[in-house]
Amino acid sequence: MARETVGDLLWRAEACLAAAAIPDAALEAEFLLAHFLRTDRGGILVRKREPVDGPLLPLIEDGIRRRAGREPFQYITGRQEFYGREFHVDPRVLIPRPETEQLIDLSLGLLPPGAAQVADLGTGSGCIAVTLAAERPDLHFDAVDRSRDALEAAAGNAERCHVEDRIRFHHLDLADLPASWDQRFDLVVSNPPYVSEAEWAGLAPEVRDHEPRQALVPDGEADRMYASLAVSASRVLKEQGVMVLELGHDSAGAAVQGAVSAGFGYTEVHPDFQGIQRMLVAGKGKRT
Ligand SMILES: C[S@@+](CC[C@H](N)C(=O)[O-])C[C@H]1O[C@@H](n2cnc3c(N)ncnc32)[C@H](O)[C@@H]1O
Repeated sequence: MARETVGDLLWRAEACLAAAAIPDAALEAEFLLAHFLRTDRGGILVRKREPVDGPLLPLIEDGIRRRAGREPFQYITGRQEFYGREFHVDPRVLIPRPETEQLIDLSLGLLPPGAAQVADLGTGSGCIAVTLAAERPDLHFDAVDRSRDALEAAAGNAERCHVEDRIRFHHLDLADLPASWDQRFDLVVSNPPYVSEAEWAGLAPEVRDHEPRQALVPDGEADRMYASLAVSASRVLKEQGVMVLELGHDSAGAAVQGAVSAGFGYTEVHPDFQGIQRMLVAGKGKRT
């Protein structure tokens, strides 16, 4: 029997993904095959008439089956780019989102020159701490998560980016930071879970059924979580320290209120590229 060609497999993958109601099934099929055949979309089109290597076939078929089960593309490839670096991702961690790159830009603009201490509360894949560490070799980090699985994944990413000697990972709740951290940090950053139960139920299957629920949905109301985050951050920040938080689409008012109640001296809300109030900057001292 003639061996299946790249073109045959592409057609099969597209049909399978379209049947699973995946938008842009044709494009996704090309990307999926490109990943397994270690090429790019152009390479797939050029190789359409080539037979697929026998040992690769079951791997590709498994990838198609997983994607048709609405598993995120990034968990299948194990990779997501964030701020120009490649992060390993798997179901232990939230896939880093492009909007979180704005948190990196804001943080880099606010950090004092020279050595500084940063806390990352809810580190997940480690994308925030690892990126800041790679961008600024004079920073030292304490990164916290209550998921041991996420901390393992983050530690792997720190090693891959060669910043593991400057990030300590801690299995802690962000509401329960040790007293020895009081007034230690110049910057506290966090992209906390902020999706409500009702919103979660309506999310795409890729997110709802595959990404870790505790990375998306806080224990109680998001407003309470932002208040608790501000209390923790206020305690561990130095006198002139700054907190930068990513916000849910309707969290700005509650997050600002939480920061003011926790004693922050000023707050600023920054919109994202869609105009959604996405980042909160809150400073302990006066805005300089
Ligand atoms: C939205 S994800 C952010 C992950 C990563 N920082 C990013 O930006 O992609 C939130 C992370 O916070 C962790 N988390 C949720 N509630 C927490 C809590 N109360 N204390 C510590 N970590 C928490 C979750 O396990 C998850 O890894």
